Amino acid sequence: MTGDAEVMKEFIDMCKESDILDGEAKMILINEVAFGIFNVSGTFFAIDDACPHAGASLSHGIIEGDVVRCRIHHWRFCVRNGTYLDEMKPSCNVRNYPTRVVGEQVQIEIDKTLLLHCNPQQDFKQT
Ligand code: FES
Repeated sequence: MTGDAEVMKEFIDMCKESDILDGEAKMILINEVAFGIFNVSGTFFAIDDACPHAGASLSHGIIEGDVVRCRIHHWRFCVRNGTYLDEMKPSCNVRNYPTRVVGEQVQIEIDKTLLLHCNPQQDFKQT
């Protein structure tokens, strides 16, 4: 039997693999929700882009392997799972999202309710 949580999730296209070089990241907006997509040695990871401290863009942070350091006050996060690394404080973790590559497209799995009021192809914005 499939649970409601699974039914409400869907993989959607975010960008092409070639849009994000190894060691780089991009912010992509869907319905004004910002996702940070990171390329770590050819593997893509997705986390919430807004830093939980004061909202800076994590995809515009300093990337060191699978760690991103926020540009503003230097909090560090693991891009693989969103864990805040400077201390044990789960309330400061950011959400992470499953990713996959289909053809050239990097996709992330998100809650379908994010898509209810938009056409994602039209609302995608990249920085
Ligand atoms: S806004 Fe990111 S550490 Fe302060």
